[in-house]
Amino acid sequence: MRRKLIAGNWKMNGSVSANATLLAEISAAGFDAAKADVLVCPPYPYLTQALEKVQGTSVAVGAQDCSVHDAGAYTSEVSAGMLRDVGCTYVILGHSERRSYHAESDQIVAAKTLQALRAGLTPIVCVGETLEQRESGATDAVVGAQLKAVLEKLESADIAKIVVAYEPVWAIGTGKTATPEMAQEVHAFLRQAIASFSAEAAATVKILYGGSMKPDNAAELLRQTDIDGGLIGGAALKANDFLAIIAAV
Ligand code: G3P
Repeated sequence: MRRKLIAGNWKMNGSVSANATLLAEISAAGFDAAKADVLVCPPYPYLTQALEKVQGTSVAVGAQDCSVHDAGAYTSEVSAGMLRDVGCTYVILGHSERRSYHAESDQIVAAKTLQALRAGLTPIVCVGETLEQRESGATDAVVGAQLKAVLEKLESADIAKIVVAYEPVWAIGTGKTATPEMAQEVHAFLRQAIASFSAEAAATVKILYGGSMKPDNAAELLRQTDIDGGLIGGAALKANDFLAIIAAV
């Protein structure tokens, strides 16, 4: 049985005071830690604030990206080791906003995944198709290639250590959600793709759905066989919405 993971990707949002309120509300909520793992991923400057605020709770903290490098003259970059050093346990990699605004290739995402694993972080590897790709029937080919580029670089034992997030690009921040059936179909395909590398890992790897997940559609999505949680953007910035999604597990 795979335990659900509800992860908030704050993207480039937040402030010291807004985060303090949001994190206090999330930390104070008595959600059932046995049912779901809960994760918040604030921007880099607020990681230590978040780590302090969630201390003593079951809420984990992760980052939204990491460098392909270990250390050195790479101005502005943050290594996976540094994230682990301050106490992060997860890192989101290959988000479509990184892929499209920062030209992140599948190879870069694979290299970052290796860095994260080496540092002891759980990488959340994002894949997803654009509307044009969906409409041309290329969804499986696109997400399959994105995932394969990562899986083929991993030792078989490491495949079980990653989390995958399916985020259809056309559903991100648009209010348009994939129907539970559409999402389930892609999740099942992704699980099959993992199985072709490791049948054992395919049974345990969590595959999250992301793209306009909200309190009113979460339960239906989370009920699907191969949907193991959510990677939530907008709704993760409102404590009530984020907690309602956790409660929908
Ligand atoms: O990573 C989360 C994401 O891209 C979904 O964003 O705002 O549609 O929930 P949103």
